[in-house]
Amino acid sequence: MTALPRSVLVVGSGGREHALVRALALSPACPKVICSPGNAGIARDVRCFPVPVEDIAGTVALAQQEKIELVVVGPEVPLALGLADALQAAGIAVFGPKADGAKLEASKIYTKEILVKHGIPTAASAAFTEVEPALAWLATQPASIVVKADGLAAGKGVVVATTREEAEAAVRSLLPGKVLIEECLTGQEASILVVVSGQDYVILPPAQDHKRIGDGDTGPNTGGMGACSPAAVVTRDLLTRIDREIVAPSVEAIAAEGIEFRGVLFIGVMLTPLGPKVLEYNTRFGDPETQAVLPRLESDLLELLWLAAQGQLAGYQLKVKSLVSVCVVVASKGYPGAFTKGEVIGLPPAPELPPDTTILHAGTALDAAGNLVNNGGRVLSIVSTGRTLYEALRRAYDGYELIEWRNGYVRRDIGAKQL
Ligand code: AMP
Ligand code: GLY
Repeated sequence: MTALPRSVLVVGSGGREHALVRALALSPACPKVICSPGNAGIARDVRCFPVPVEDIAGTVALAQQEKIELVVVGPEVPLALGLADALQAAGIAVFGPKADGAKLEASKIYTKEILVKHGIPTAASAAFTEVEPALAWLATQPASIVVKADGLAAGKGVVVATTREEAEAAVRSLLPGKVLIEECLTGQEASILVVVSGQDYVILPPAQDHKRIGDGDTGPNTGGMGACSPAAVVTRDLLTRIDREIVAPSVEAIAAEGIEFRGVLFIGVMLTPLGPKVLEYNTRFGDPETQAVLPRLESDLLELLWLAAQGQLAGYQLKVKSLVSVCVVVASKGYPGAFTKGEVIGLPPAPELPPDTTILHAGTALDAAGNLVNNGGRVLSIVSTGRTLYEALRRAYDGYELIEWRNGYVRRDIGAKQL
């Protein structure tokens, strides 16, 4: 094995990147870790550089200037813009797929074609570019149906319609353009994060996200309001089945399409009465799933990502702690709609938090007076581990009570379906 990298750049500014920074810094190899652009919390842990994630040339220049040996890319946008291609061209190792692999997230129509071509279970669907044919087709379908914008939409491009009117309104708002209309699947969802390196892959502990804003899975979809790992619904047998019917064929299909994929293939799976089916591929770590999954890794994350980036994952054995981990997201009141930024947030000192509990930052910044303020929709993640789900949840919600921010919003039922 090649020696582990001595310097790592994490690209992004969310709770996911804060979790990555923390986990990479814990490596026995003690790498220098930096982040761009980061946020107010990440900046307390490591040096942050104000390079926007869309600035591909600027990110490559930063990596060169800081003599970075491995870049770990958090969000999908720079991947779709070709950040991994540019880093590789500059001779810098990168964990995250090139633009051809990132297209598996950036185009839902392209992904659906690959799923169908390779016989991987997924919802039946049809793609449209014009309003009239789409409406004519809708008229032949059940009222419950899912309308998806083709491109990247930060989790907001999907309408799960329950009436014909809703579906038609979604179609009219998205077309002309590109939409995928899909059969509505039912069941619980699971997030399967797979570290892929060409033909080799390692499945990380499954997690369950909570996508809707409201308790009881009500209201609009968000980027994700909380996660737990393990996902009780994904039993050992079911994971074996998901591996056989979905993960292995997906990795094979991607390689067969000529894509050299080195990064996370995050498969959104619906556990339907007819078996597991793919809802979507993402080509990066999930947020908030990553915050819940990483504390469960016994293995060195730096080594795992480095081996994957180097195409050396064959034979890798992941070690997982038998702990339960939860992440409760604190959002700005109003998210995923409009909200006010710049509200001052008071955080408890780390020693006052419940055991095995930490606060990660997402949309935070410092105001002119140096106060911590909210600067985005999802603002903080409270991450707790415990011997049981109940213990982990109690710790996370007890931790939340110590945060002083009147307009902070949390779902009160993270993990409740699994209790
Ligand atoms: P996606 O971005 O494709 O994962 O969609 C976001 C969310 O919409 C998913 O996590 C599901 O909750 C829901 N969703 C997407 N596709 C379907 C489908 N075919 N049936 C039911 N729900 C879906
Ligand atoms: N938690 C869902 C996502 O990262 O897209």
